[in-house]
Amino acid sequence: MSTEVTNPQFSPEKMAEVQRVISLFPEGKQKSALLRILHIAEEEFGGWLSVPTMNYVAEILGIQPVEVYEVATFYTMFNIEKPGKVVLEVCRTGPCMLVGSDNIIDYIQQKLNIEVGGTSADGIFTLKTAECLGACGYGPMLQCGKHYHEHLTPEKVDALLESLRNEHTTSSN
Ligand code: FES
Repeated sequence: MSTEVTNPQFSPEKMAEVQRVISLFPEGKQKSALLRILHIAEEEFGGWLSVPTMNYVAEILGIQPVEVYEVATFYTMFNIEKPGKVVLEVCRTGPCMLVGSDNIIDYIQQKLNIEVGGTSADGIFTLKTAECLGACGYGPMLQCGKHYHEHLTPEKVDALLESLRNEHTTSSN
């Protein structure tokens, strides 16, 4: 299902940004720039980190590819599969769970006919879970891009999905 990124190369502007980030760290400690460079790479190469992209980042930093894979797979904020146009991240930590995050996750799974980690057949939605997103008093909640959606109910989820679907169907990308 993934559209492979076969030969990733940063644009000159992005490479300059990458080199600036690397220069913030002392000689020999360039690996410390990894998280920030992965964010740049994800943004640059279609919103996810393919194996060639991770290998490319490893090459730039002069580290082993496995060191990049370990970091990219540890943090849920990185996508290691090509995601849908919209990524829904539902908080599943204690305070949100106590007020029904599991029900919201189940509801979205049923509604989109996907499991957590999956992408809907129309390619629009990817469902993920996340640990505490810092809005514990407003659960159940999810993050979508830069926006938080709080005190979720099935009705609110319906309205959110419909609005996102319209937005991403009419804008075609
Ligand atoms: Fe869900 Fe903190 S527990 S935002």
